[in-house]
Amino acid sequence: MCGIVGVVCDENCQDYIFEGLKLVQYRGYDSVGICQKNGEQLKIDKTKGLIDKLITKTTPLPGAKVAIGHTRWATHGAVSEENAHPIEGKNKEWVVVHNGIIENYQQLMCDLQKEGEVFKTQTDTEAIALLLSLNNFDSPIKNMIWAIKHLKGSYAICAVKKQEENCIYAAKYKSPLYAFCNDEIAMLASDPICFPEGDYYKLEDGELCVAKKGNIVFYNMRGEEIQKTKQRFQKIRAMADKGDYQHFMLKEIYETPEALKRVAKNFLNVDFGAIKKLKFKNVKLIGCGTAYHSCLMGAAYFRKYLKIDAEAIFASELRYDDYVIGPHTLCIFISQSGETADTIAALEKAKAKKAKIISFTNVPYSTIASLSQIVLPISAGPEIAVASTKAYSCQVAGLYLLTQALKSEKHFYKAIKQVSELAQTTEKFFVNMADFAQDIAQKQKIYFIGKGSDYITALEAALKLKEISYINCWALPAGELKHGTLSLIESKTPVIVISTNKSVHEKVMNSALEAKSRGAKLYLISYKPPQICELENFEFCLSLPKAPQPLLCILAILPMQLLSYNVSLIKGYDPDKPRNLAKSVTVE
Ligand code: AGP
Repeated sequence: MCGIVGVVCDENCQDYIFEGLKLVQYRGYDSVGICQKNGEQLKIDKTKGLIDKLITKTTPLPGAKVAIGHTRWATHGAVSEENAHPIEGKNKEWVVVHNGIIENYQQLMCDLQKEGEVFKTQTDTEAIALLLSLNNFDSPIKNMIWAIKHLKGSYAICAVKKQEENCIYAAKYKSPLYAFCNDEIAMLASDPICFPEGDYYKLEDGELCVAKKGNIVFYNMRGEEIQKTKQRFQKIRAMADKGDYQHFMLKEIYETPEALKRVAKNFLNVDFGAIKKLKFKNVKLIGCGTAYHSCLMGAAYFRKYLKIDAEAIFASELRYDDYVIGPHTLCIFISQSGETADTIAALEKAKAKKAKIISFTNVPYSTIASLSQIVLPISAGPEIAVASTKAYSCQVAGLYLLTQALKSEKHFYKAIKQVSELAQTTEKFFVNMADFAQDIAQKQKIYFIGKGSDYITALEAALKLKEISYINCWALPAGELKHGTLSLIESKTPVIVISTNKSVHEKVMNSALEAKSRGAKLYLISYKPPQICELENFEFCLSLPKAPQPLLCILAILPMQLLSYNVSLIKGYDPDKPRNLAKSVTVE
């Protein structure tokens, strides 16, 4: 994964890099580095940890007019200073930052070692830096083309050459790369949010460029100059400010009501006629992680309200499995970032099978949006914390609205009203979960159970908690406990029970009590307060405010998000930046 930024300007180029790296940190944050260049002088600074540490460590290189920077999510080689980018080739002739994975790296390493090259890091990127240094072509862009012809996998590369004037050489294949220039500055980045206001260029696979101040020249793989048109700037993933909140995650949970209102408003502008014209017989909803949980919820809505054969599929599974997809399949790809590599690959596979493609994304200029026939807006606003919160609620609300719109106009307008009212209900439903969190933070393992949509909420609640508290959490359908997992229930094992559906409430309670009989401690999130006689069964009971049954799941996940946040704090972790993860997972 990783985020890259490059700049060519007259002064303070390190500041542009630091600002840009902060904005692409959502792509990874285990280590970070910068290379500043002034003529043949190169200064590389890198460190494990976050950008502020790099800023403290880095002194400006006087007169530097070029810099490249990188924030890493390790794929090859441990998280260490030496494996942090920029990575230098032989004699620092070329210095490279790279986002992506070089799949034939082992082979390249053997070949390069046979040529006498010595690897100083454990990264696949070093193979690129060494390949670049191997030849002395009359033009550095030829070195770039020659080197990348040897690469298999994905890459966005920014490179500087010691003996060349102040410019950056860049190439892109299957990892995003954007370019910007005006009279004062040229920039390259993994995301156009790093650029000043103004239109930008999106590099396509197999394209390269040379960026100089005031001028960017693009090339194809044959080394021919190509003309590119600029894209309109839509700054939506701006670096939101934490305001008075301690963390983005908390702020984003609290932004749920506003976000839901936006969903209702923006869905009024969706052209559902165009979706109906797609003429589909079955629906696949595809995503990863939290977005996959929205897919599960969406599939349930399609089955329930439209009686259409619908299923949710993990994008990473669709890539390699034999799902039956064809011209009559509507594939809905859900992705907050719009850049998730598994989801993009699954989309490309569905497209090749001639399926109808809709994407539901929070980033209108994202890769997933650009590959789709129709794009639905998640409308959550910038989501910075790694743990997805408000985006999930918006995805679920949006999928409900979609199915109601496909049912009838009357159902759609009723649903719009329901979502708007739900937004108001959520405003008053930020429950204090601190005490519950104290209890949960002491546990080694936690089970979540529910039936139907509550099982999906259980899955999402378990993912949220494990993601930022590092506690082993497991969700399962209530009725499945007795088919194996019950053997893991011991004295005081916590089981969080979610029950928002009156028709199966008693069934869920039966499963919960089966766990209690084996020693479990029960915690209840329910659509109604427990009866007095039931109270003694639970350590904690939370009843949800009134809302239409299909939207109760959005209310049920809110306290679970707050619980996760509180547990993470109690355990002393940074809920915004959990270990080993990144906001946008741009590698397979
Ligand atoms: C959610 O809390 C996770 N960070 C993760 O599961 C995420 O939802 C998943 O990686 C998909 O991301 P996307 O929506 O940007 O495609």
